[in-house]
Amino acid sequence: MHLAQPEYDANSPIGIFDSGVGGLSILRHIHALLPHEPLLYFADSGFAPYGEKPEAVIVERALSIADFLLQQNCKAIVVACNTATAAAIAALREKYPSLNVVGVEPGLKPAVALTKSKIVGVLATERTLASDKFHALHEQQAASGDVRFLQQACVGLADQIEKGELASIQTVSLVRRYVEPLITQGADTLVLGCTHYPFVLEQIETVIKSLQKEVSIIDTGAAVARHLQRLLEKSHLYHPIANKQAPLTAFTTGSHSSLRSAFKVLLGLAPEVSEVSVAPT
Ligand code: DGL
Repeated sequence: MHLAQPEYDANSPIGIFDSGVGGLSILRHIHALLPHEPLLYFADSGFAPYGEKPEAVIVERALSIADFLLQQNCKAIVVACNTATAAAIAALREKYPSLNVVGVEPGLKPAVALTKSKIVGVLATERTLASDKFHALHEQQAASGDVRFLQQACVGLADQIEKGELASIQTVSLVRRYVEPLITQGADTLVLGCTHYPFVLEQIETVIKSLQKEVSIIDTGAAVARHLQRLLEKSHLYHPIANKQAPLTAFTTGSHSSLRSAFKVLLGLAPEVSEVSVAPT
């Protein structure tokens, strides 16, 4: 049976989701590039972290969250999470073939263009690094040249950021444990393959500085925002009123005060935040 596809409305909001606060590192670029677009942010903090969960659980969460965002009338969805993109973007695109669904993936391609030592460190969750999608990306980029990728699963790091511990002793030592071996093995380029990690950029840079090395850090947030802009223009869903600051609203499956505080501390923003629960329909 062929189901009629819904019409999406240019006046509607863009839905952005992550396992928690990591997606705010993507939202900040979207908010800066497209200030006139209403945004709905969904933090699945009640189920974070995704990085240590089975793929089937992440697919189920992503589909339930997308259903929720579409009930809020969203015209596009940004999967602001590498782990959820790797696990669920195919299922989302299959379920909503006419919806603009934008994902994020570790920036291996820009890293290949940038590295001089031909050694690139990739920081990501266990689940992202184990995914078929990442394997395919890795194979493609490794085949295109003589670059070696050192993959580092950063177990526990997203959790620290989720707790708001950006610079605690535990976070600083986790960052050092994960970053230092990559640099000492010769990586001159580091890919932030998890949307939580830009929030510990300062800690990563401190480790690099202590080793007296020059290292480029790749965060694809700005590229994701530009890709979304192009898709909206192409599908005639760009918001028609371009000179007005649009509303920003947030939902969480965790605590609203934690998400409110994350918005304030990480981005200096103060959206209205509601606690919700979503489950498979
Ligand atoms: N922010 C997510 C990512 O980009 C995942 C963090 C987690 O929940 O483990 O992969």
